[in-house]
Amino acid sequence: MRTQVAIIGGGPSGLLLSQLLHTRGIDSVVLERKTKGYVLGRIRAGVLEQGFVTLMEEAGCADRLHAEGITHDGTLVSYGDELFRVDFKEHTGTPVVIYGQTEVTRDLYEAREKSGGKIEFNVENVVIHGADTETPYVSYAVDGEARRLDCDFVAGCDGFHGVSRQTIPLDVRREYEKVYPFGWLGILSETPPVNHELIYANSPRGFALCSMRNENLSRYYIQCSLSDKPEDWTDEAFWQELKRRIPADQAAKLVTGPSIEKSIAPLRSFVTEPMRWGRLFLCGDAAHIVPPTGAKGLNTAASDIHYLYRGLREFYESASTDGIDSYSEKALARVWKAERFSWWFSSLMHRYPDQSEFDLKMQVAELEFLRSNKAAQQAMAENYVGLPY
Ligand code: APR
Ligand code: PHB
Repeated sequence: MRTQVAIIGGGPSGLLLSQLLHTRGIDSVVLERKTKGYVLGRIRAGVLEQGFVTLMEEAGCADRLHAEGITHDGTLVSYGDELFRVDFKEHTGTPVVIYGQTEVTRDLYEAREKSGGKIEFNVENVVIHGADTETPYVSYAVDGEARRLDCDFVAGCDGFHGVSRQTIPLDVRREYEKVYPFGWLGILSETPPVNHELIYANSPRGFALCSMRNENLSRYYIQCSLSDKPEDWTDEAFWQELKRRIPADQAAKLVTGPSIEKSIAPLRSFVTEPMRWGRLFLCGDAAHIVPPTGAKGLNTAASDIHYLYRGLREFYESASTDGIDSYSEKALARVWKAERFSWWFSSLMHRYPDQSEFDLKMQVAELEFLRSNKAAQQAMAENYVGLPY
């Protein structure tokens, strides 16, 4: 089989790239290791930057997002019983949209299917060949049968555990990583959200986040130990702990109910450089991971896709390699800013096992500064709604 762009990974990055290329008549094939059901079963963050929404519009996939997404003009931050609001609209003129990544992925699959997009599921043993030549190809197997996909370019959209990043030789690749000494225990429950905007809570018992998917579907998280298992936490224990970490007036109005999903995610900051090797381009989680505080994961994947899509268009439409030649540099410049913001916000909001009394005082001083200083709020708002592409 032959295509113009071979896309490894059918998560949001791979699907969005494939759909955007399709709008310009550029052919691609998506190779996904799992089934569609498995991909859609993963629960991830649900805050979209305007830049992401614009890309979904460009891809022709934004109708449901516009109909069902909830616009948020700000967010709440608490520490102890103090609660303050950072107004995105006032500081940036831009809101964010609450719409789950699962729904984004579902919309993208639907669009690919409608336009006859080629997606191979259950692929095994994906190997990228000749990425540093002008004739790369991908070998893989489906049901034990070997296949080969010849292409002009390979987009590595296969997440943190994929093969694409490993294809870049070690003497070219540099990786930067920070692993945080805690995780997030998250639950999804069919209850109305405690507040119409998100609440990020710093408490002496650890971080908590009150988020949502819609008016009757709430997503809550509490910082937990890395040795905890979801089954160690009954729903009752989770709700009790959450109530102790958010301001008392919020806890008093929290509606609880059975969890319909419960899972623990570790927190990591990770970047690989460069994001391009020859005709292989890394996008999204394949190249970088952020801790979830601030919901930058999906949004940072989207800016990669924006740069790569523009670069590939320039190549096919104007025979120019400028866009693809500057892909890694441009993508990384924005990635590092998202890394900084996610690291800053995580550091501000969590309890660390080795935190000294001094460190705790610094957190409170910074939270008080953020609460009372317009410039600090503006900096947070600009980052939260998404820095320009
Ligand atoms: N071959 C084919 N597919 C693979 C391989 C492989 N060797 N390895 C992984 N995959 C697939 C995974 O099964 C997954 O569906 O690649 C896909 C990668 O999807 P994600 O991990 O979701 O990564 P990405 O598409 O970059 O999405 C960006 O935003 O909120 C964040 O981390 C969150 O998923 C999120 C991300
Ligand atoms: C979520 O709704 O899952 C969510 C929201 C905001 C975050 C992280 C996760 O910062």
